Amino acid sequence: RISDDAQEVLQAYDWMTKFYHHFLRYAKDNKEGYQYFKDRGITDETIDLFKLGYAPMSTNFTASFLDKKGFRLPLLAKAGLLSLREDATAVDRFSGRIIFPIRNHLGKTVGFAGRTTTGEKPKYLNSSESELFQKSKLLYNFDLAKKQIRKTGEVILFEGYMDVISAYQSGIENVVATMGTALTQVQARLLKRYVDTVIVCYDGDDAGIEASYKAAKLLRETGCGVKVANLSGGVDPDNFIQKHGGEYFIEKIVHASDTYISFLMRYLKRKYNLSNEGDRIHYIEAVIREIALLDSVIEREYYLQELANEFSLSVDSLKSETETVRKKLG
Ligand code: UTP
Ligand code: MN
Ligand code: MN
Ligand code: MN
Ligand code: MN
Repeated sequence: RISDDAQEVLQAYDWMTKFYHHFLRYAKDNKEGYQYFKDRGITDETIDLFKLGYAPMSTNFTASFLDKKGFRLPLLAKAGLLSLREDATAVDRFSGRIIFPIRNHLGKTVGFAGRTTTGEKPKYLNSSESELFQKSKLLYNFDLAKKQIRKTGEVILFEGYMDVISAYQSGIENVVATMGTALTQVQARLLKRYVDTVIVCYDGDDAGIEASYKAAKLLRETGCGVKVANLSGGVDPDNFIQKHGGEYFIEKIVHASDTYISFLMRYLKRKYNLSNEGDRIHYIEAVIREIALLDSVIEREYYLQELANEFSLSVDSLKSETETVRKKLG
């Protein structure tokens, strides 16, 4: 059962989702938000589907709008739709930002992300966490993606809003995002219920690769099949799709994504200096520890062979080392 307070918050979010969207689309004297999305290659149809919006540049437009409708402003401030000033008056939180409504798995808006169009910090301002809005339990776009996720048994996991929106616009619908935070167990379990394979497709920068490592590990522990896309040079999926299109993205990035172990090898290589003998041995040991965790004997053999080839070692010695590690694991 949903509480009266929660009901009121949902209603207010619903009003503002519609209002901000309408303001973005139809305000005659304010094209800033609309133009921003146009410049980033987002179509009217996509703007409408995701209910993208723009919050008027005002300290109390939203607050007084909701006040007039009879909403309790302190409640809405607590739910992160408004901000509280020091004197405890509730004021607009997202003014002058483009708005991404964040929907829960039933399609109801439970929070906003407001992006600056002028380089202010933070880049994305989110609703504060509340009972209804917990980033760690939500996956952006899960409601729209669900059908295609079920159908394909695969989901592509992105970092951000624009990655999802550009992919969806280009016809790739089994896409969700963690909204910048680390993937959590709750999110991993949710995905596990729907798919065989999660394709982790985070940004091609250092932060993205570190986050991929953590997400991939957690997904394995949760029992999901994992693949990891290999974007590089600081490119993110949105950049790639806007530049090359969805089909090319599927072909070059999704279908070419690494298996879990191949990704780990790529990841660990960044950590060790392979031209140094001691490091090389530590690298090999680290990879063996990961291979030892694989249940399938065929997979273990396959990757041990790959490792053996790479360092001109006998596969037998690697195998016996792997068995030793496995015995220790029990
Ligand atoms: P990114 O920095 O990769 O942003 O953060 P982005 O998604 O590529 O956004 P654009 O293309 O610059 O518009 C990834 C995600 O992390 C969250 C957002 O969910 C963002 O989409 N984030 C990032 C925040 O919540 N706040 C921030 O200030 C930055
Ligand atoms: Mn990023
Ligand atoms: Mn990004
Ligand atoms: Mn981006
Ligand atoms: Mn495929």
